[in-house]
This record gives sequence, structure tokens and C-alpha cells, in this order.
Amino acid sequence: MSNRYDAIYRQSIKDPESFWAEAAEALDWERSWDRVLDTSNKPFYRWFAGASCNTCHNALDRHVDGGRGDQLALIYDSPITGALRKFTYRELRDAVATFAGALAAQGVVKGDRVILYMPMVPEAVISMLAVARLGAIHSVVFGGFAANELAVRIDDAKPKVIVSASCGVEPGRIVPYKPLLDGAIDLARHKPDRCIILQRDQETAELTPGRDLDWQDAVAGARPHPCVPVEATDPLYILYTSGTTGEPKGVVRDNGGHMVALHWSMKNIYGVDPGEVFWAASDVGWVVGHSYIVYAPLLHGNTTILFEGKPVGTPDAGVFWRIVAEHDVKALFTAPTAFRAIKQQDPEGKLIRDYDMSGFRTLFLAGERADPDTLTWAETRLQVPVIDHWWQTETGWSICANPVGIELMPVRHGSPTKPMPGWSLEALDEHGAPSPAGTIGALAAKLPLPPGAAPTLWNAEKRFVDAYLADFPGYYKTGDAGYIDEDGYVYVMTRTDDVINVAGHRLSTGAMEEVLADHPDVAECAVIGVADALKGQVPVGFLVLNAGCERHHDEIVAETVRMVRDRIGPVAAFKTAIVVTRLPKTRSGKILRGTMQKIADQEDWKMPATIDDPAILGEITQALSGAGYARPA
Ligand code: COA
Ligand code: AMP
Repeated sequence: MSNRYDAIYRQSIKDPESFWAEAAEALDWERSWDRVLDTSNKPFYRWFAGASCNTCHNALDRHVDGGRGDQLALIYDSPITGALRKFTYRELRDAVATFAGALAAQGVVKGDRVILYMPMVPEAVISMLAVARLGAIHSVVFGGFAANELAVRIDDAKPKVIVSASCGVEPGRIVPYKPLLDGAIDLARHKPDRCIILQRDQETAELTPGRDLDWQDAVAGARPHPCVPVEATDPLYILYTSGTTGEPKGVVRDNGGHMVALHWSMKNIYGVDPGEVFWAASDVGWVVGHSYIVYAPLLHGNTTILFEGKPVGTPDAGVFWRIVAEHDVKALFTAPTAFRAIKQQDPEGKLIRDYDMSGFRTLFLAGERADPDTLTWAETRLQVPVIDHWWQTETGWSICANPVGIELMPVRHGSPTKPMPGWSLEALDEHGAPSPAGTIGALAAKLPLPPGAAPTLWNAEKRFVDAYLADFPGYYKTGDAGYIDEDGYVYVMTRTDDVINVAGHRLSTGAMEEVLADHPDVAECAVIGVADALKGQVPVGFLVLNAGCERHHDEIVAETVRMVRDRIGPVAAFKTAIVVTRLPKTRSGKILRGTMQKIADQEDWKMPATIDDPAILGEITQALSGAGYARPA
């Protein structure tokens, strides 16, 4: 049934070095590798050790040199501002080379870090590729994060330069970025030498003399910079993601392995050929944006779409279909939440009929669990295969997918299908032994991981080992629990840590608890993720107030909501907090977040044997049902 996939997968596990060496031949290397896989420093494995290369060269110059100079590389379609701009490979290469020259003029050299705090404009993509061109390391910070989150990343990455813009544009409001950037630099201990600011039409930012440089002034007179070769194992970027605590993890991506895996994925997983249009409707601030708006489509010679808008409201729930039809998109990749938003506004999918979608072949969903309702709706309305695939910031590309370019395996709702090459996956029990088929366990992948997966965390090797490798020696712990059925289909059920997924955005409840705990009237708190029809999950906070606090609860709740928005950002979507007298805990003092979440989601739950005060769960149920969650007690 799945002969081609089986053969390819088996070969990748049996002989990973020849599998990935063959895939690497599609790319240009300044110098070839000494070893495809360097195993000399376990548990840290390095792909293509000894090779040197440049990712930007492979994403742009290689195509211009190879005859694709006049093909479109990037289409910027911004229904929220009305802008449309197109770049051929030659134009994009030239813009990137010029901006690389501008960065070099500010002293950026190989190995330096550059933080990018940018809205979804072409200059964001140009900046990423320009940093890569110089062999420097970019770290993109999502625009929906607040100054404090940006400051934490500035202190960890220690950028020489920060590139930002005057504003982002959200439905109904302009989001000025400059005050957030200035606030972050004030908060951070590390200070960048220079900030380069793109002034957008919607808002002009005031520049700080001596530190800030207008983008236009920076590029005026800049000399185009050639690609700087780096070691294949050198970092291309750092992308911070949520962990269990408020301190984000700086996921490192290397150059060589990343290029090879992403290039391979475009034809084999997404089934597109060079020259075709591919669209990932995400944001460059997330890993999906890094991998599938920027690097993979360009490495593969596709045309990529940069979409500045929302699935609904910019102007309506037909915007995805308009873009697919207008730009002849062959494959679209987005998060299920985007489809839930569209379905909510256009349940019959009537707007689809307004557009010629005949060229559209496949819809890919990832970022959160794809619920069967949304999958069925998309399949019925679009009449194309709808492919759920599972991956993480750390992995950079799919752990599991249905590789339509190899063969379309039967789709099973609730499953992102099977492991991709190099991913040797098990559901492990608490002793680290593989569970039998159909039994839930911790999903973990045998080391070494394939190319593209994070080799480490930025300046935090021990944290990398502790977070991912220590619990199950010889394996990478994904942090997701699930099972593998008798046919090898993988089912991803839930996170095993305090990470929640809000509208496809990964957030830490631990980080929100740290903010709530700072409120002067809050003695204790907990945050859980509860099911939400649109966003998949939303955070809900529980607050225990200091004894003697007589302030009105609504006031305190409003202040905590404001604090999370100000410190983490609007993207946290923290809108609900409930004041309770106590939190449910085990006798050893552990907060029973899992039980609270089951009550909120109206799932079956058992009274935990170790609970110290069963009566409190009645109050929690009451409070949750008062807030619109849980069944009344
Ligand atoms: N800059 C500033 N603020 C931002 C922002 C950005 N780049 N992105 C989001 N925000 C703000 C929003 O304006 C919103 O603010 P509000 O509380 O004042 O309304 C808040 O952050 C939450 O944003 P979001 O989670 O996007 O919710 P939404 O209600 O605006 O839109 C969806 C809901 C489903 C339409 C939206 O989440 C979406 O398009 N999701 C697509 C999935 C996706 O891109 N996932 C990424 C991983 S693949
Ligand atoms: P991020 O690092 O932001 O991409 O988030 C990764 C997490 O999102 C995973 O660990 C999962 O918990 C969840 N996730 C991503 N894709 C899927 C999927 N297809 N099915 C279920 N969960 C998913």
C-alpha cells in the first residue's frame, strides 16, 4: 500500500549518511564535508561536518546563476494595507545583497547576531537573507510579543544590530513598534550598537540620534555584499520558543543540515516543483515562517507568498481563496485555527465559489492538533487532500507527515500519518521502554535526529540535554504524548509539559504564572489552557489573593490581564482570570493543573488520590462554569 514511502523511509533509517548525502547533492557547497554525520561528541550530532556553504547563496544566487533570475521569488500580498509587491529572484538577490552591504557597513560580520523585530513586509525576508549572506546569525522576534519578551531575547542573543520597523498593522489598529523596541532596549542589559528602522507609510517612528538609522539611509550607497561561506555546522539562526518557564529557549538552526532537509521536503512532502507557487500563511516570527515562507521555498526555486493579513476580516473569509486563485498557489500551509476562523464566518464555504481554484492541489495543516471537524470541512469544501503534519520549532521540519510528493497514503483523521525520513519514533512508557501499538506514551525520536533538527540551544548546552535528552537516554523527547497504531500511523494527543497552543502559537503557562505572581495582591496562581472553539486553546488564570485583600475582584482581574498583555504581549490572548479561595493541590503541594483542565474542558476526570482537600474542586468547577467553562457543579 505504501511501498514507495516504506522503501525511502527504511533506507533513511538503515543508512542515514548515504540518504542525506544524496539529498545534499542538489545544493551548492563551497567545500564538501569530511563526514556526513559527525558522531564524535555524543549526544551532540553534527551533519555535514567540515563542509562550508552559504544558505543565502543557495536560496538566491544559485537560482539566478542557474537561469531562474526572471522568475518570481517573492510575492508580498497585504490585504490589510492594500499593498502588492513582487520580486524576481534577481531583484530579491540584489535587494538582499544591498542590505547585506548596509549591515556590513554597520560592522556586522560572520557569527554576529542580528535581531529582527519586524511585521510581515518584504524587508523582513530581505533582512533574514542578508544576515545569512554575511554568515551572521539572525533571531526573529514575533511582532505580537511585548517589550519585556524582546528584552529577554536581546540579553540572550546579544545582537550587534537590531532591524525593526515603525509599525505593524493589525485589524483596526496600527501597532507602533518603536516604543516597544525602545522599551526593550531600556530594559535589556545588553545594548545593540545600531538599530535600523524601516519607516512604513502608516506610521513614522522617531529615531534615536546616534543609535537609529533609517532603512532608506542605510541602503543608500550600500555596496552589494557577496555571500560569506560558513561552516555547515555554524548557526544560521536562533529562534526563541516557549518552554516550561518564563525563560524562552533559543533554538539553534545550523546551515548545512537545514538546507538539505528543507530542500528535500519541498518536493517529497509538499509535492511542488521548482517554479510553482507555495504559500505558508504564517508569520516570519514563527518556525513555520522561517522554514516555509522563507528558506524552503527559496532553496527549492519556488515562488513564495508573504501574506500580511488575517484569514477573516481582511476583508473577508474569502481572502485565502482570492490569493490562491490570483497567484496560482499550488499548495497552502496554515494552522487549523485559520480554517476554524474561516468556517465560523462562511460555514458553507460559499466564498470559495467566487474564485478559480482549479490549480490548487493540496492543503497542509500544522502547528496544533487538527480537529476532525475542521479537516472534514476543508476536504469537502476544497476537494483536495488535506494533510495534517506534526513538527516543532526544535525540529524545523516535519517529524510526521503524509509525503504527497512520494505518495499520498490514506489520510486518517486525527493522525499526521507517519514518520518522515530519519525520524525513528517511539511512544515510550515512564521507564523509557517502547509502548505496544495503540498505547499512549511520550513521543520520542531515537538519536541521531535527521538534518534540520536543532543541534543545541543557544549558549545553553546543558539545558538542551536536560530539556530534551536526559529523560530518555538515546532519545529526543518531543514533549508531546501520543501513540503509534499497528499500521505505523502516529497520533499526537497532548503536551506533557506546561506549553499550550493558542491559535497555533506556542505559549508557556509557566511564563504567564510568573507575571501573575508579580501582582501585589496575588498570593498564589495557576494558569491552564482550556479548549476554545476558534483558537484551539486559550489560557485561563486562577488567582488566590493575599489574606485581607479587600479590593474588588474585577479590578484585580483586569490588572492581571493588562500585565500579561504588557509583559508577554497580545499574542498570549490572556483574557480570563478567576479569583478562588485556594488552588487544588496534592498533599506534597503540587498544583493539580491537569484535573482543573479536564474540569474546564468537561472531560471525564477522577478525584486524584493524592489531593489534600477534595472540596476545593467543587469551588473550581463552580467558578469555571460561571466563566462559561465546565458543567455546573
Ligand atoms: N503584532 C502585534 N500584535 C499582534 C500580532 C503582531 N504581529 N499578531 C497578533 N497580534 C495581536 C492581535 O491583534 C490580537 O490582539 P487583540 O487581543 O487586541 O485582539 C492578539 O495578538 C491575538 O492575536 P491572534 O491570536 O492572531 O488572534 P486574532 O483574534 O487576532 O486572530 C486568528 C485569530 C485565528 C484569525 C489568527 O490567530 C490567525 O490568523 N491564525 C493563523 C494561524 C497562524 O498564523 N499560526 C502561526 C503558526 S503556523
Ligand atoms: P511550535 O514549536 O510552535 O511549532 O509548536 C510545536 C507544538 O505544536 C508541538 O509540540 C505540538 O504540541 C503542537 N503541534 C504542532 N503540529 C501539530 C500537529 N499536526 N498535531 C498535533 N500537535 C501539533
